[in-house]
Parts: sequence; structure tokens; C-alpha cells
Amino acid sequence: MKKILVTGGAGFIGSNYINYQVKKGESHIINLDKLTYAGDLTNIENPKAGNYTFVEGDICDLKFIQDLFAKYEFDQVVHFAAESHVDNSISDPSAFIETNINGTFNLLQTAYKLWMKEPFQMKDEFKKARFLHVSTDEVYGTLGDEGLFTEETPYAPNSPYSASKASSDMLVRSYFHTYGMPVVTTNCSNNYGPHQHDEKLIPTIIRKAIREENIPIYGKGTNIRDWLYVLDHCKGIELAVAKGKLGETYNIGGRNERKNLYIAEKICTILDEEKPRSNRKSYSELITFVKDRPGHDFRYAIDASKIEDNLGWKAEETFETGIKKTIQWYLEKYTN
Ligand SMILES: NC(=O)c1ccc[n+]([C@@H]2O[C@H](COP(=O)([O-])OP(=O)(O)OC[C@H]3O[C@@H](n4cnc5c(N)ncnc54)[C@H](O)[C@@H]3O)[C@@H](O)[C@H]2O)c1
Repeated sequence: MKKILVTGGAGFIGSNYINYQVKKGESHIINLDKLTYAGDLTNIENPKAGNYTFVEGDICDLKFIQDLFAKYEFDQVVHFAAESHVDNSISDPSAFIETNINGTFNLLQTAYKLWMKEPFQMKDEFKKARFLHVSTDEVYGTLGDEGLFTEETPYAPNSPYSASKASSDMLVRSYFHTYGMPVVTTNCSNNYGPHQHDEKLIPTIIRKAIREENIPIYGKGTNIRDWLYVLDHCKGIELAVAKGKLGETYNIGGRNERKNLYIAEKICTILDEEKPRSNRKSYSELITFVKDRPGHDFRYAIDASKIEDNLGWKAEETFETGIKKTIQWYLEKYTN
């Protein structure tokens, strides 16, 4: 059975990926996570599954990473672990530089030593090894009213978070060009769905609404994001690691651009039906505009044609179908 290292698997997207892969039962998943504030092992639906192992550790600890690779001899790495919250990167960027850049470097260098004899020479037993680096569309900076990010869009990161992710993408690229490492990078738009941390936009809107608290929206709510249901992202990653061309990057996005204010209003409308307020007013009355985030990128939107045309990927959920499932999941979480 293939041994796959998933880093950051106690977080939002990593845990959804693990739950999906463990259920499929085709590989042994080793979840390496430092369990920062963002990691939560209850996100793993079947922790006792025979093809699942959890290891607590830090990707910044090189000796620990070397020992782990020596012990398991991974056939594949799917690298999610990162500091991921833009607001935290503004108030305290140092952990972003450490984990997102140095941690990625440790994984690349250790995989290189395990898998390759020398540059462009894979060891026979690792001929099919793959390193999938999970990144973000935020590396491309911000868009105006028009246009889409393609894989050719020049990098122009604007926050310490996106700058640290852009740096890690460049390291991954360099390992392909310098050493012939079997790497593939995916750059994805905003994800939503089960197991996202409470601090993020959609869980915050749902939680504040049902607790009858003000729902905070930055600025005037006009910022636009391209929303992707997390399971669609996981399926895109699975395809990219299995069929992606080595050294290439693939943008993954749902063609679901929505303004933040629309997101809040849509969630409130669904909640009005699913869980009406006792005063019969709409939850949308709780929407409150708050001071904007410094350097807030105006619009992100992805052109996903490359992964659609070359690998046959397509988002199965629209925002309107995915958000209904998501709200059901958070209602269970916040009301039980
Ligand atoms: N959430 C999104 O909308 C989105 C969109 C595009 C790309 N991404 C990328 O996807 C990846 C996963 O994002 P997420 O939203 O699931 O993040 P998350 O913050 O929910 O999870 C990150 C996980 O990494 C772990 N971690 C952090 N530092 C670590 C370290 N030094 N060593 C080991 N583990 C560590 C945390 O404990 C946590 O479990 C990130 O690389 C992020 O940049 C996220």
C-alpha cells in the first residue's frame, strides 16, 4: 500500500483530504501536524482506521522530519501544513515565515534525499514518488473588476501570508528545475465547508448569527472571492498528484465569484428558513460593517481551464449548493 505523508492534516483542508482518502482505503495516510491553535484532531472522522496514523510534530524541526522520512519511506507527500490566517500574518508574521518557508524547505530537502540518488536521478524504488504542494491564489495579488488569475499571472503577493506562500512556491519550483524533483503545485481560491476554523469568514457569519451577535463584515463588504467547496478542492489535489505534469502548477477555482456581503446575506436567508429567529426578524439585521483589514485585496478570481482541460477536473458544487451543506454541518456543530 502506498504510504502518503499528509502535513497539516488536523487543519481544515488537510482533514477533509484525509477523511476522503482514508475512506477510499487505497493508501496508508500518515498525518503529521503540530497541532497549533488551527489543528484539531476531532476533524478526523475515523482516527482508528487501519490505514491512518497520526504523528504530532513540527515541519520546522529538520531532525524530526529526517527521522520520520527514514521510518516511513513515504511514496508521496501532500503538503498542507501552513500558518494560513491573513489577519494573524498582519499582527504577527514570524510564524508564517518560519513554517511556510523554512518548513517547506525541510520537507523538500528531506524528500530529495530519500527519493533521489543525485539531481535528475530517482532511486528505482521511488520512481513514482510525488510531492504535491498546496498553495493559494493569493500569491497573484489582487485583481480589479475584470480579469482572472491564470498559471501565467506574475506573482505579486500583498500580505505576509501570501508572500510566505509565494516564497514556498518558488522553493518548490527550484527543486524541479535544479534537481528534477517530482513536484506539482496547486494554487486554490477560498475554500469553505465542514471543519473550517471558527475564526474564518463563513463559520464566523453562521456562529454569530445563531448566537444573535453582530456579524462583522470588513469595509463595505464589496471584496470579492472565488469560493470553492472543500471536497472539490480535495478532488483537484488528488487528480493533480496522480496525473499532473511534473514541475507544473494548476489553478483550482470554482468559477463562483461572490462579494462578501452577498455571502453574509445568503447565509442569513438560508438560516431564516432553517432556524428562524424567535423575534421573526431576519438574521441579516445583525450584519455590521467594521474597519477594513489593512492592505485588503479587492478581488481574487481563478481561471481553472488548465486543470479542467488537461486533467478533467470540474467543481461539482456551486456556491449555492455547497453553502447549504456547509450551514447544515455548522448548525450541528454550534447547536449541539
Ligand atoms: N483555506 C483556504 O481557503 C485555502 C485556500 C487556498 C490554499 N490554502 C492552503 O491550504 C493549506 C491548508 O489550509 P487550511 O485552511 O486547511 O489551514 P489550517 O490553518 O486550517 O490548517 C493548517 C494546519 O497545519 C498545522 N501546522 C501549522 N504549522 C505547522 C508546523 N510548523 N508543523 C506541522 N503542522 C503545522 C496546523 O496545526 C493545522 O492543523 C495551506 O497551505 C493554505 O495556504 C488554503
